[in-house]
Amino acid sequence: MRKKVTKAIFPVAGLGTRFLPATKSVPKEIMTLVDRPLVQYAIDEAREAGIKDFIFVTSRGKGALEDYFDMAPQLEQELRKKGKDDLLEILKGTNMDSGQVAYVRQHKPLGLGHAVWCARHLIANEPFAVILPDDVIAANKPCLGQMVEAYAEHQGNIVAAMEVPEDKASAYGVLDIKEDMGRIVSTNGMVEKPAPGEAPSNLAVIGRYILTPTVLRKLNKKQTGAGGEIQLTDAIAAARAEGEEVYGFRFEGERFDCGSKAGFLQATVAFALAREDLGGELRAFLQDILYSEKAAQ
Ligand code: G1P
Repeated sequence: MRKKVTKAIFPVAGLGTRFLPATKSVPKEIMTLVDRPLVQYAIDEAREAGIKDFIFVTSRGKGALEDYFDMAPQLEQELRKKGKDDLLEILKGTNMDSGQVAYVRQHKPLGLGHAVWCARHLIANEPFAVILPDDVIAANKPCLGQMVEAYAEHQGNIVAAMEVPEDKASAYGVLDIKEDMGRIVSTNGMVEKPAPGEAPSNLAVIGRYILTPTVLRKLNKKQTGAGGEIQLTDAIAAARAEGEEVYGFRFEGERFDCGSKAGFLQATVAFALAREDLGGELRAFLQDILYSEKAAQ
């Protein structure tokens, strides 16, 4: 029987320069989307998809991330003393069982493929998931869970995919479509950040992957690609060239690019509007300022 996907890699080594000066001392992944750090959304999504082992690829200055997933005995004691059970419950979601979480350091920023490769010994010979916490996806059924279900039916590698405007394709990994079956698309491979006008399609890869160990073997070659970096996309394409299937999966849900300021703000507004405790007040406020702005024109 095929192995279940129980391990996930979270590449969180990036410097987050787009969010300077905030990221001078706060890892980008700890920045809050409404009231939870970005990384918490990724963890919750992985847990719901059945992930049991969480592997973070970190770098210098990411200590706050490790603390975040640790117990906080003093804080918990205080909350218990004050009878704040609701807050204790919220904290529970941040705790990981012993041995469930591992941190691997990427010593040099050599690219996403290299970051994933840094976790190779913790994956060994199993299929694994990769989640890029920058890509936040609002969905009824979390995106990785949708992909795990698709994986049960389709052998090979599966990457989340979404149509993007033609002039934006060069910011993504782009799928070379073989057969479009609707939700699932078989591919001939994929290209990382194609030059304008050279994208094989407008179906872009979004930061959720289910991959085979072949991809790790391909990363062993440490070949550089777009931007002079070791690209995950190239290793997946190499696995395809060797005969393994690579599928694109059109997920249900809305993706926010929280690696950009505009995307982070949009996610903040969308997630807050969806919240029972915040939505009403925020909606009224937004309507108000938008109305005043229009009236002033
Ligand atoms: C990474 C991947 C790219 C993918 C994108 C999705 O790029 O390399 O293939 O399309 O994430 O967000 P980055 O955004 O890190 O440049």
